Amino acid sequence: MSTESQSGQKTASASNVAPATGKLGVMVVGLGAVATTMIAGVEAVRRGLAKPIGSLTQMGTIRLGRRTDNNSPLIKDFVPLADLNDVVFTGWDIFEDNVYESAAHAKVLDKDTLEKLKPYLETIKPMPAVFDQYYVKRLHGTHVKKGKNKRDLADQLIADIQAFKKTVDRVVMIWCGSTEIFMQPTAVHQSIEAFEKGLEADDIGIAPSQIYAYAALSQGVPFANGAPNLTVDVPAMIELSKKNSAPVCGKDFKTGQTFMKTILAPALKARMIGVSGWFSTNILGNRDGEVLDDAQSFKTKEESKLGSLEYIFQPELYPDLYKDIYHKIRINYYPPRGDDKEAWDNIDIFGWLGYPMQIKVNFLCRDSILAAPIALDLVLFMDLAKRTPELKSRGIQEWLSFYLKSPQTAEGLYPEHDLFIQSMKLKNTLRHIMGAGLITHLGLEYYD
Ligand SMILES: NC(=O)c1ccc[n+]([C@@H]2O[C@H](COP(=O)([O-])OP(=O)(O)OC[C@H]3O[C@@H](n4cnc5c(N)ncnc54)[C@H](O)[C@@H]3O)[C@@H](O)[C@H]2O)c1
Repeated sequence: MSTESQSGQKTASASNVAPATGKLGVMVVGLGAVATTMIAGVEAVRRGLAKPIGSLTQMGTIRLGRRTDNNSPLIKDFVPLADLNDVVFTGWDIFEDNVYESAAHAKVLDKDTLEKLKPYLETIKPMPAVFDQYYVKRLHGTHVKKGKNKRDLADQLIADIQAFKKTVDRVVMIWCGSTEIFMQPTAVHQSIEAFEKGLEADDIGIAPSQIYAYAALSQGVPFANGAPNLTVDVPAMIELSKKNSAPVCGKDFKTGQTFMKTILAPALKARMIGVSGWFSTNILGNRDGEVLDDAQSFKTKEESKLGSLEYIFQPELYPDLYKDIYHKIRINYYPPRGDDKEAWDNIDIFGWLGYPMQIKVNFLCRDSILAAPIALDLVLFMDLAKRTPELKSRGIQEWLSFYLKSPQTAEGLYPEHDLFIQSMKLKNTLRHIMGAGLITHLGLEYYD
């Protein structure tokens, strides 16, 4: 057997992934900047008005076999993904604005584009949300469900899911809602039974995002999480995910600064360059920035952003290089910039014999333009996972860490943050489920 790649041939018999026939229903929690940019973008692509740039599922290729085979199909031609024309959106929000109004408010896409898409975007009106201001201090929801307890609210969401299921063939849910206050797992999160009792008892440890996740997973619906909220990162949800073959993945879209971090840090480590400090600051003026201006929501985001360096640098293995890194993250709400976030990084590094150097990164990005294709890819890949016998009952889909600031892993396993390892893992997972050979990059066979 060759070493760089085993046979890349796709053998229909080796893959038992169910085809993506019919409509894929996407239930989006929170129809704000990211969600509306994703939905409007999908419609623009469907109409041939724009290209799906930034989306691996739409534009990416995957090499099969040896480098000399010249066989690199598009990912969407290699694995059976839902076609964008078969994607149907619905969602919930705490405000009544339809997707057109919400997109206009978010000011991510220009007026011309939005006007062209208006008739379609106006048809997507949010269902009343499950919301409690205790968990997002800066928002005052007006379009919210009322119920006698959290169980009742979960049942109302389940009714929404069941009604939508009647109109489509498969359903995926994605959280594009706000960042909730920082929460840690408690007794109520330790088992399905404890969680269900907690719903009845209105346990304070159960945040709205967990009520949505519970509703989705209990209906066998995969749940992806774009925010850093605790949500499915607890034993009860993993148990439910496995039990009902409803995949979950990590959390918090890896878009701007952390995306850069998980590219630069592995490179420095690969060359054994030391790091003494990494100061990251952001200015952001959209509603997300306003929510993150609250200390308790910021803490949730901070924890999610802090994790990557610690895991990439492995200071326990390299104490001379990374033991005492001073890592600081700031997010400042600055309304004039709207969704156009600016992120600065100052990295103090040291090289041969300890001589100091500096790297400065100034990323002038557009938050939702970076997040929208990630949200789309997660939705399409979670649907694929649900149709893949080998993946659907495993709970956590670690191969989707590529998209997330906080990858989720099996107990006792450290998360892999390095973007290129994540990318390799994702593509090898696709090769594996399709019965194609994995690519190891050894490549000795070319020199036989
Ligand atoms: N844009 C990025 O680059 C990026 C990156 C990583 C994570 N995120 C996260 O994605 C999420 C969405 O970001 P955004 O810029 O679209 O924010 P946004 O404020 O524009 O949108 C969030 C929407 O969620 C709604 N909402 C809040 N709580 C809800 C609930 N319980 N049920 C239903 N709707 C609810 C809000 O009303 C709002 O419309 C945020 O949590 C953000 O931190 C964004």
